[in-house]
Amino acid sequence: MTRHFLRDDDLSPAEQLEVLELAARLKADRFSAKPLAGPQTVAVIFDKTSTRTRVSFAVGIADLGGSPLIIQSGESQLGGKESLADTARVLERMVAAIVWRTYAQSGLEELAEGTRVPVVNALSDDFHPCQILADLQTVREHKGRTAGLTLAFFGDGASNMSHSYLLGGATAGMHVRIAAPAAYAPAEGVVADARAIAERTGGSVTVTTDAREAAAGADVVITDTWVSMGKEDEKAERVAVFGDYTVDAALMARAADDAVFLHCLPAYRGLEVTAEVIDGPQSVIWDEAENRLHAQKALLTWLLNENENEEAA
Ligand code: CP
Ligand code: NVA
Repeated sequence: MTRHFLRDDDLSPAEQLEVLELAARLKADRFSAKPLAGPQTVAVIFDKTSTRTRVSFAVGIADLGGSPLIIQSGESQLGGKESLADTARVLERMVAAIVWRTYAQSGLEELAEGTRVPVVNALSDDFHPCQILADLQTVREHKGRTAGLTLAFFGDGASNMSHSYLLGGATAGMHVRIAAPAAYAPAEGVVADARAIAERTGGSVTVTTDAREAAAGADVVITDTWVSMGKEDEKAERVAVFGDYTVDAALMARAADDAVFLHCLPAYRGLEVTAEVIDGPQSVIWDEAENRLHAQKALLTWLLNENENEEAA
């Protein structure tokens, strides 16, 4: 069975740790691993816009000795003109892995079912697991660990980032708190899955509408845009209900004194976070953005190695 990375819990706690430890080694010695030397090509497909994901995968694949093939889906036969199953079978004949940023999680699942090469979720409507690996790497750098720390996320609880913090944070043994308006609570299935993981890792999961309560004593404070890609038509109604969840200096003051602030970016200063916080001394957003490169290189290296071992067995 080919290993894919479609959601955060596709890596077990031990596997997630392996990837994060490799990410730290690759950051210290950037060109030390060349699993794509040959060079092999990795297809990186975008149905939505991107800066960090596009650049970090392109640079990371080149660092690993490979060749990135960036495809804007509107310029390919994907998206109604050719089925995912047929696309999957064509790509697997030529590329070592497929990275895809898209809308529906079900599309990623269908692609993964139809191909022998690893498929990586580069953001869907439901999850953004590559981002969480980079965030966990950043937390480890600044706090020395993840297990036992409290991560508090403010804003759209039903978003890809919130869902990935639930699964990825629980996998890392963290106490995950999601503060969101009731109408934007996380999907019940994701919360249940995160709780089951947290029971095994010593973490926990709290979903609340009370931002002040969620911030109390938190070690890691996080927010994300209130208007995710694909939700632009809902901007006015979203801005109207998320106002109580802005991460400002008063909310940060309720967190631990040495709390760090994360934001996956792009950020909208004055909406989900004030400039004072995101540009302030507790913000580690630039380390977080850089770590997309190292975490994804580690993930690709790990996946290719796993699948090689599987084929050899
Ligand atoms: N954080 C993130 O995924 O950024 P991009 O949308 O620029 O890729
Ligand atoms: N939740 C955001 C994340 C962007 C990286 C979105 O989906 O647009």
